[in-house]
Amino acid sequence: MSLARSSLFNVARAARSMGVHAPVLVRGFASTAVRAQAEPVQKQPMIKEFKIYRWDPENPSQKPTLQSYKIDLNQCGPMVLDALIKVKNEVDSTLTFRRSCREGICGSCAMNIDGVNTLACLCRIDRNTSKDSKIYPLPHMYIVKDLVPDLTQFYKQYKSIEPWLKNDNPPEKGEYLQSPEDRKKLDGMYECILCACCSTSCPSYWWNQDEYLGPATLMQAYRWMADSRDSYKKQRGEKLQNDLSMYRCHTIFNCARTCPKGLNPAMAIAKIKLELATE
Ligand code: SF4
Ligand code: SF4
Ligand code: FES
Repeated sequence: MSLARSSLFNVARAARSMGVHAPVLVRGFASTAVRAQAEPVQKQPMIKEFKIYRWDPENPSQKPTLQSYKIDLNQCGPMVLDALIKVKNEVDSTLTFRRSCREGICGSCAMNIDGVNTLACLCRIDRNTSKDSKIYPLPHMYIVKDLVPDLTQFYKQYKSIEPWLKNDNPPEKGEYLQSPEDRKKLDGMYECILCACCSTSCPSYWWNQDEYLGPATLMQAYRWMADSRDSYKKQRGEKLQNDLSMYRCHTIFNCARTCPKGLNPAMAIAKIKLELATE
């Protein structure tokens, strides 16, 4: 007999000895427990202030501002994206930001939260309510509106490295094959979701965005150079052999520190440099 059943049995036996009708007592005991479970626990409000960057292209002469919103953390999900969605749904529908997957896959909710470039959907709200939380768009980018950066240049640079398999001798039939060892060389690079957190944390990218490709694009360039199925490694490397495209990286590692997926673009750039130097 389980512990719960045996205690009910003992209660019933004790009740019988006192002349109480046991089944009534047992039923009453069980329904009291169910009632207690059903009652919602009222938590004290836990108010946190979020200061969020606002800029409206409809009023271009108006300077950007930090707008304050107060949210009860006990009525909100645990992530910064939950707080932003709550503000948009319940407080101010004009607040603009990108999001889609809410689980660190699409890369669209990248922003600067309390000084760190990261994904709002993977960033837990700091539950210290004595401190406000400041949210800005990714730094050193043109802004479309509020927390939405213009990624046109970022995608143009990504396109420039031709991020697809290039091979003039496809297999006669079937798929391109790759050994497990060769496949493993892509680990740590193929997982990139192109959120741009790394590139927008890179000082070299801030100042030379027009010509320096930045860590995200360079890591993807190496992802294709390292792919055993691609036969354009030499040409891909040659395209990077100039002062600006890659050699503006000074191995400061800001990119690796900020990547919300734990990737290391600086290491990929170092590998490109090493391979080009030892060719
Ligand atoms: S390397 Fe990391 S930070 Fe950079 S774009 Fe890819 S996922 Fe984002
Ligand atoms: S290591 Fe290179 S790419 Fe990464 S932040 Fe520093 S300069 Fe930029
Ligand atoms: S919403 Fe997709 S990465 Fe955050």
